Amino acid sequence: MVQYRKFNQSISLKERFHRAIPGGSHTYAKGDDQYPEQYAPYIARGKGCRVWDIDGNEFVEYGMGLRAVSLGHAFDPIIEAAHQQMLKGINFSRPALLELQTAEAFLQLVPGAEMVKFAKNGSDCTTAAIKLARAVTGKTKVAICGDHPFFSVDDWFIGATAINAGIPQSTKDLTVKFRFNDIASVQQLFDEHAGEIACVIMEPEKYEPLDLEFVQALQSLCKKNNALFILDEMITGFRWHNGGAQTLYNIQPDLSTFGKAMGNGFAVAALAGKREYMELGGLYHDKERVFLLSTTHGAEGHALAAAIAVMDFYQKEDVIGHLNIQGERLRAGLEKAISTYALEGHIGVHGHPACLVFSTKDQDKNPSQPFRTLFMQECIKRGIIAPNIVNSYSHKDADTDFTIQAMSDAMAVYRKALDEGIDHYLEGRSVQPVYRKWNHEHRNKA
Ligand SMILES: Cc1ncc(COP(=O)(O)O)c(C=O)c1O
Repeated sequence: MVQYRKFNQSISLKERFHRAIPGGSHTYAKGDDQYPEQYAPYIARGKGCRVWDIDGNEFVEYGMGLRAVSLGHAFDPIIEAAHQQMLKGINFSRPALLELQTAEAFLQLVPGAEMVKFAKNGSDCTTAAIKLARAVTGKTKVAICGDHPFFSVDDWFIGATAINAGIPQSTKDLTVKFRFNDIASVQQLFDEHAGEIACVIMEPEKYEPLDLEFVQALQSLCKKNNALFILDEMITGFRWHNGGAQTLYNIQPDLSTFGKAMGNGFAVAALAGKREYMELGGLYHDKERVFLLSTTHGAEGHALAAAIAVMDFYQKEDVIGHLNIQGERLRAGLEKAISTYALEGHIGVHGHPACLVFSTKDQDKNPSQPFRTLFMQECIKRGIIAPNIVNSYSHKDADTDFTIQAMSDAMAVYRKALDEGIDHYLEGRSVQPVYRKWNHEHRNKA
């Protein structure tokens, strides 16, 4: 039965959020513009795969803290490890033994990496990788995969998006883009910017499967052109394989970056890589020194304790297997519902089972933000928060089946909206992409 939830408290707090916080959220991906207008709950707490909002509504959640929570919210073994560490102190004037233990546990799990340095944010690690590549090669340009949506909050990446105010043109000019699985587009960059590209950075996999021949050819091109190959495993690490996608696919990047699920929500990220490059940030060499990742909170005790507990849990329990099984169960159920409502070509389920996304298209099968909004609206009404359908170890059969039923009912409404017109069903304005120059669409045309 449809439970039309009430959002009075959330709606009444919206203005206060926006008065205190630019964008009403500390992360754009969580912002109001990403959610249906009347269905944008503020969260009170979470446990496992469920969250409760400030109106007392209960939801099965997907996305899991921007993919950072792979085991579940407030997951006992992890919070217990973090708590125990907090009782012993979390930040000292000299390294804690815990820093070595976490580094060694990580290096054991990710055999391709010879050294590792921790930070709080993934962006700090990808930016450090870029700097290290520039220092190693003496070159300045960065080739990024243009099909991958996010690498860093820093200027070298945000300068290449539509929301690039405040970033000098000289910085923007240093970032160039190639296409995923398209070796000709990489070759073209090396030709057009001969002798200028310091590194190539990409995620191992996103919506379409990685072509292993592509990545081999890419690495050869990097070697030939004296550029470093950086694999950004922020999402794939701790979702594709215990040792990251690089272990699953036997890829040896020069540098790789991890974060997100590594701490099951605690802030911990990593720059890992080959010793010959990483040790330029060290104390015992004769080369020019590189200021490599040095932050006050980089080795915060309870986050490292959480990371060790996460790595431990992954080795004791088949977390990766579980994410895959539940993801495939969800995909199969949703595809059946898509077929039931003849929505092929209008709603799609894409990607790796541990990191599924859905797409929404209109009557003409063109990508549609209003239809995305409608689908999210109908899911939220039925107790599902799903900016995507990225799951966790806490999503069990019953949760997945509840989701399939709720989303199937949401699809029934989607079908009617296609047949009768979306205006009859969409209750507020549409969601919008994060990367846009103006808040309101009409400014684009001005
Ligand atoms: C692939 C990828 N790289 C890097 C980052 C940046 O990580 P953080 O938000 O921790 O700075 C993200 C964050 O969404 C990401 O998805």
